[in-house]
Amino acid sequence: TDSKKEKLIKVHVDTAELFHHVLLNTKVGEEALQYLLDRGLTRELIETFNIGFAPAERTMLYQYLSGKEYDQTLLSETGLFVERDNGELLDRFYNRIMFPIRNQQGKTIAFSGRIFKVEPTDGKAAPKYLNSPETYLFNKRNVLFNYDLARANIRREKEVILFEGFMDVIASWDAGVKNGVASMGTSLTNEQIHMLDRVTDHVLIAYDGDNAGIEATKRAVDLLSEETHFDLDVLSLNEGLDPDEFIHKYGAASYKEMLAHGRDTVFAFKMRYYRKGINLQNESERLAYIEVILNELLTITSAVEREVYLKQLSVEFDISLDSLNTQYHQLYEQKR
Ligand code: UTP
Ligand code: MN
Ligand code: MN
Ligand code: MN
Ligand code: MN
Repeated sequence: TDSKKEKLIKVHVDTAELFHHVLLNTKVGEEALQYLLDRGLTRELIETFNIGFAPAERTMLYQYLSGKEYDQTLLSETGLFVERDNGELLDRFYNRIMFPIRNQQGKTIAFSGRIFKVEPTDGKAAPKYLNSPETYLFNKRNVLFNYDLARANIRREKEVILFEGFMDVIASWDAGVKNGVASMGTSLTNEQIHMLDRVTDHVLIAYDGDNAGIEATKRAVDLLSEETHFDLDVLSLNEGLDPDEFIHKYGAASYKEMLAHGRDTVFAFKMRYYRKGINLQNESERLAYIEVILNELLTITSAVEREVYLKQLSVEFDISLDSLNTQYHQLYEQKR
C-alpha cells in the first residue's frame, strides 16, 4: 500500500473531524451553523456530508495537527496550508464553511470552503468556494463530488444526475434524490465521464438554470454525446434557478415531479438553446435557425423521433412538412 497516501488521508480525516466539531459544538461555529440552518440544512445532512467550519484565525488547524505529531513536510503537502516567506505554515481555509471532498472509497482527500458572511463579489480576491489545490491525493479531474455515496443509488435507479454544485447534491439528497453527483462547476473531464460510464448509461444533466448553467449544459451534452452509449436528458429549470433553489422555492414534491416528467430530450434542449437571441421575425435568421436544427436532426438515429421534430418545426414555422423533408434530405446527402 501507498503509505504516503494513507498519511495524507489521515490528515484530511482529522481535519474534517476538527472542522465538523467546531461547526456543531463551539461558539465560533455558531454563525456558520445558523447560516446552514437558514439555508434549510438539517443536522442530519450536516452529519451525512460531514460539513464543518474553519474559523477566522489562521492557526487553529496547524496547531491542532502539529499536536498530533505530523511532520511539517507532510503537512505542507496536504494543500491545507499556505507557506509564508519565513517558512511558517498558515491555514489556507479560514472563515469558511467546509465541505469535505471524498474519493471513490469515501475517504476525504480535499476540501471546498464557502464564504458566507459577505456575499461573494465578482472580484478574484475571495472566491465563493475556495478549493484545495491539486495535491498528491487530489486531482480534480478524477473526482465527482458524492460519487462514493451515490454509486449504489445510481445503479439502483439506473441513472446518474449530474449537478453543478455541492448544495444541489445535498438538497437533492435531502429531497430523497440520492443518485446525484457534482462536477463542481468545471467542465466535465474524460476521467469523470468514465466514472459515470462505469455505473450507468443514463445521465440526467441538471445544471443551473442561469446562463452559465445553460452554456455548461451545452458543453456537457456535447462531451457526453461523443460517448454514443449514453442516454441523455436535460433538466431545464426556469427563472435561472439552480436545483437547490428550486427545492427551497417549490418543495421536494414538485422537484421530484420535474425530475420524473419535466425533462427535456437533448434535441428539445438544443432547439431552445439555439433559439436564444434569434429574432424569428427576421427571415434570414429564421432560415439559419431552421438549418441549424435540421443539421442537429441528422444526429438523431430514430426515424420516429425525427418525424416528431420535423412536424413540430413545420407547425412552428408554418413550412410544409414536404419542404422540410426535402431540405433535410439535401443536408443528409451533403453530409454523407
Ligand atoms: P455556483 O456559483 O452555481 O454555486 O457554482 P452554488 O453551487 O449554487 O453555491 P451556493 O448555492 O451559492 O452555495 C457551482 C459550483 O461551482 C464550484 C462549486 O463546486 C459550486 O458548488 N465553484 C463555484 C467553485 O469551485 N468556486 C467558486 O468560486 C464558485
Ligand atoms: Mn439504457
Ligand atoms: Mn452556477
Ligand atoms: Mn448554483
Ligand atoms: Mn446554489
